Amino acid sequence: MKFFADTAEIADIKELASTGLLDGVTTNPSLIAKSGRDFMEVTKEICAIVDGPVSAEVVALDHEGMMREAEILRKIADNVAIKVPLTLDGLKTCKALTDDGTMVNVTLCFSANQALLAAKAGATFVSPFVGRHDDNGLDGMQLIRDIRQIYDNYLFDTQILVASVRHVMHVYEAAMIGADIMTAPPSVIKALVKHVLTDKGIEGFLADWAKTGQKIS
Ligand code: G3P
Repeated sequence: MKFFADTAEIADIKELASTGLLDGVTTNPSLIAKSGRDFMEVTKEICAIVDGPVSAEVVALDHEGMMREAEILRKIADNVAIKVPLTLDGLKTCKALTDDGTMVNVTLCFSANQALLAAKAGATFVSPFVGRHDDNGLDGMQLIRDIRQIYDNYLFDTQILVASVRHVMHVYEAAMIGADIMTAPPSVIKALVKHVLTDKGIEGFLADWAKTGQKIS
């Protein structure tokens, strides 16, 4: 499963990229606002740090406007994926852009039928929001299972990009289901490594090592 960081914070992206575990980045208008950075400038910077896809979202709601914005965004770098909302205009834009060889991430997906439409529109990625699904008393992970089943039934190439990931169990479940990618805040990605028995084990080994009085040199 690929790991994308859901952030526009350069320091966090650099830190994760240095681990070799980062396969891409996703941003959205809220994350850009949170960063306080200029959209074009920060996206360019992210694209230079990460080789994999970097999602940059359009804000126009009509097809023509989305195409105009996508035209500007895709010039930033070859690894930009244009993010469009799951609306009829978004799907029309998705079809036009993917036919033209541009990566497209269809976002704000909340149902299996919406994901089916995204795949039919040729989306490179579909982003079902599991956390926001859970927030509304629904089962975010069941949505991922349903989409996996539908995509496998028809051998769609669209990659399931599990978004709105809030905690490590979302990552575990997404991996068990066989989602292609998950995008999570850097704090969640870093929390994946934590285990109390790993910390306890290191502590015990170091205490015993100290008793030997030896050095590795
Ligand atoms: O990038 C979209 C998504 O991951 C948003 O997450 O936590 O705002 O629901 P969240």
